Amino acid sequence: MSETVFLNGQFVPYEQALIPVEDRGFLFGDGIYEVVAAYGGRFWRMEEHLDRLERSALAIHLPLPMEREAIRRTAEELLRRNGLERSDASLYLEVTRGPAPRNHLFPEEPHPTVVMIARPLPPVDPAVVRDGVTAITVPDIRWQSVHIKSVCLLPNVLAKQAAHEAGAFEAILVREGVLTEGSSSNLFLVFGQELHTHPEGPFILSGVTRGAVIEVARDLGYPVVERAVPLEELWRADEVFVTGTTSEVVPVVRVDDRLVGSGRPGPVVLRLLQELRRRTRGEA
Ligand code: PDD
Repeated sequence: MSETVFLNGQFVPYEQALIPVEDRGFLFGDGIYEVVAAYGGRFWRMEEHLDRLERSALAIHLPLPMEREAIRRTAEELLRRNGLERSDASLYLEVTRGPAPRNHLFPEEPHPTVVMIARPLPPVDPAVVRDGVTAITVPDIRWQSVHIKSVCLLPNVLAKQAAHEAGAFEAILVREGVLTEGSSSNLFLVFGQELHTHPEGPFILSGVTRGAVIEVARDLGYPVVERAVPLEELWRADEVFVTGTTSEVVPVVRVDDRLVGSGRPGPVVLRLLQELRRRTRGEA
């Protein structure tokens, strides 16, 4: 079955979903996006993703061309049209300021481009949870508004590629000596029973999974402290993990070739993942 994508109000075969060469997403990275997971065909925390999309749109003065309800219905229809209505799936949604002759100034009458792509969500590799993953640290060279989920991801792409070339799963970003987040994930450190993670604000993306993990942790009785954690404290943490929509909760056991904690996924991260999975597969 050929893949169906949504482009500017229409469901079209993938090959026919074409964007003008002067789309501002392509020319300037002038766009925003979301990645939403669905479990058993039901979107997980869609409202939070739509809230964040609206915040990103407002921050870049981009009028969203679709109402929330229309986005939600379209996303559900896209799952159906791709035979994913009962599957674990991921939805990629991007909105750009649309095509216009190249000029840094906003076009006077923008025609935003809206794209949605739905794909099966591959299960997380059990070895990742069983053994944990490795990470490297890299300087956080991103701009100072990374709370906007913008498609300008070149620093993230370079960081992830550097991690891959070092045989690692993720790059942990360090801004002025402080651990901010991963190249495509949020970062948590565990000290005893306490979780520490960078506060929301312009230096991290406010992850939907991050929010869910904080809720789960508090419900399970683990205190959560939101603060800027200096890099040196990484080596004193009992457990470290990263979170994201497609990867859930991933234990990190080695960073820059040094062991973290016991060097094995710890009890807190495993308990959090277990409870998060119980909720993603139940609550929708
Ligand atoms: N990335 N921080 C960054 C820089 C991210 O790119 C992401 C997600 C997160 C986690 O956010 P959430 O829990 O809402 O997925 C944190 C997505 C999945 C991506 O770019 O593919």
